[in-house]
Amino acid sequence: MNELDQLVQAAQADFEQAAAPADLENAKARYLGKSGRVTELLKGMAALSPEEKKARGAAINEAKQRVEAALNARRQALADAELQAQLKAEALDVTLPGRRRGTGGLHPVSRTMERIEAIFGSMGFDVADGPEIETDWFNFTALNTPADHPARSMHDTFYVEGGHLLRTHTSPMQVRYAVQHVKQHRAALEMGEAIPEIRVIAPGRTYRVDSDATHSPMFHQCEGLWIGENVSFKDLKSVFADFFRNFFESDDLQIRFRPSFFPFTEPSAEVDIAFSSGPLKGRWLEVAGSGQVHPNVVRNFGLDPERYIGFAFGMGPDRLTMLRYGVNDLRLFFDGDLRFLSQFK
Ligand code: DAH
Repeated sequence: MNELDQLVQAAQADFEQAAAPADLENAKARYLGKSGRVTELLKGMAALSPEEKKARGAAINEAKQRVEAALNARRQALADAELQAQLKAEALDVTLPGRRRGTGGLHPVSRTMERIEAIFGSMGFDVADGPEIETDWFNFTALNTPADHPARSMHDTFYVEGGHLLRTHTSPMQVRYAVQHVKQHRAALEMGEAIPEIRVIAPGRTYRVDSDATHSPMFHQCEGLWIGENVSFKDLKSVFADFFRNFFESDDLQIRFRPSFFPFTEPSAEVDIAFSSGPLKGRWLEVAGSGQVHPNVVRNFGLDPERYIGFAFGMGPDRLTMLRYGVNDLRLFFDGDLRFLSQFK
């Protein structure tokens, strides 16, 4: 093997050993660089005669081309390897299960609200919505609870500017809705004709200065009102029986009315239910306040209490949700802890 073949072979071996493009460029400099071995050979021809130059030059050039070919082949090989490595690193495993978008769900209290609306809706009740920031008039005075009335002390609430307050119950919606209804039928009323019955529920948020395992400063109520010319306690009882049996999907349920006091009803009753089976079997549970709407309140509706009569009730959807799902701490509903809430999806 002549000296040039040896040189080519050495270059090929050197290039082969280069593990990265930078190593390869260093190896290239040792052969083809300014003072590389091939360059040195070319420089060494200066002293030769023209004929010798021709033969020697051709041989060196041929060797140089083989070195360059080896260099290019190695460059390509390194580039291919890098591409392969990159593809491998970025490979998609199409057999992995897809990432799902987390699905939300309705809050358990919202579920109860929807259920209440659907059941009362099926009994012909309208659903009304009203302001959570109320006036003293709608929240208290119009409901037969004047400024000095002792019943106000049980409704300590949060007052905001301008004499407004966060409503302590949904009962103000009785007056708001009835006044609207009366306005709509003013013409009939003025002619002494009977106006259509008022049958409405008003679910929503309410506020009181109260906080423990069964009381939250923000809680929910659902008001109900049924006013007509001949609406009695008997109707109230059948509405409650229908509602609770539907709500708890059980006929295994007793209802009792316990005498009570509310300024806006006379007589007034607390409504209790008891299940005949299950974990709460035989325990009376208070679920609503109710009563025959007080004549003073009917007057504030804009109606004649001698002619129009009916009942109202207020129940606690939070309490109903606790009973339905067997939850014993009300605060869990409002902590926003997904570990709790996601159980109701
Ligand atoms: N508003 C009452 C409360 O929050 C509940 C209530 C009782 C509403 C009797 C009524 C009713 O409509 O007739 O304590």
